[in-house]
Amino acid sequence: MSEPKLRLGVNIDHFSTVRNARGGTHPDPVAGAWAAIQAGADGITAHLREDRRHIRDDDLKRLQMLCESENIPLNMEMAATEEMLKIALDLKPHAVCLVPERREERTTEGGLDVAGQHNRLVPLIAKLAENGSRLSLFIEANRTQIEAAARTKAEVVEFHTGAYAHALDDCETEKAQTILKALEHGGALAESLGLEVHYGHGLTYDNVSAIAKIPQARELNIGHFIIGEALFLGLEPAIKEMRRRMDAARDGVEAVS
Ligand code: PXP
Repeated sequence: MSEPKLRLGVNIDHFSTVRNARGGTHPDPVAGAWAAIQAGADGITAHLREDRRHIRDDDLKRLQMLCESENIPLNMEMAATEEMLKIALDLKPHAVCLVPERREERTTEGGLDVAGQHNRLVPLIAKLAENGSRLSLFIEANRTQIEAAARTKAEVVEFHTGAYAHALDDCETEKAQTILKALEHGGALAESLGLEVHYGHGLTYDNVSAIAKIPQARELNIGHFIIGEALFLGLEPAIKEMRRRMDAARDGVEAVS
């Protein structure tokens, strides 16, 4: 039997980053999401941060309408707070990915401590799951966190690939290999516990292949690099090239640059 297709979720937050730099309406993240869907995105991801530094409440509502009308899953990333819980319960996105959030960070650093916050997270996850959203937990690929995730109503874990990406950027090859092994073992353990496995953060044309090759991977969520590359190539070629590299890795063929 052939492997299911590896889905590409395009994170469109940084359309809003550019828009917000001038305070107007351009570029509209919803138009960006529409263009990403036309270019082959299998899903749209957006992170409503507590400080609304990029995506805003109104963007999210319009994204939900677009994704519903295009029959494309919307993956809402959010911190596990009462404010975000209320918004997600009203919005009912296809998926909710719980992420850790600190105001001073530039982007999501590290995974959610599901093991340490188990008692606080379990009821919040249950409410969202009972409301119809598919729950995903953004975690580090270690046994403690994976086993804790499996004890909740979450159906998905997304493994944080940021440390792998950084190690490669810093030419720390051995460290990168160790992290990659953990990401691979994490995928196998999570799947054996009944969780669907996603990966995301810091993925680029250069590092995506090793992650796409992990047999348990079902979805990759990629934002910053694609939007940055779109400045040079346009959004459609940037997404198509990422897709090509993912598919080539999946077929066991290394993409040539
Ligand atoms: N997955 C999660 C859970 C994230 O928080 C982010 C960043 O918002 C991404 C994927 C995308 O990361 P990047 O923008 O580095 O591709």
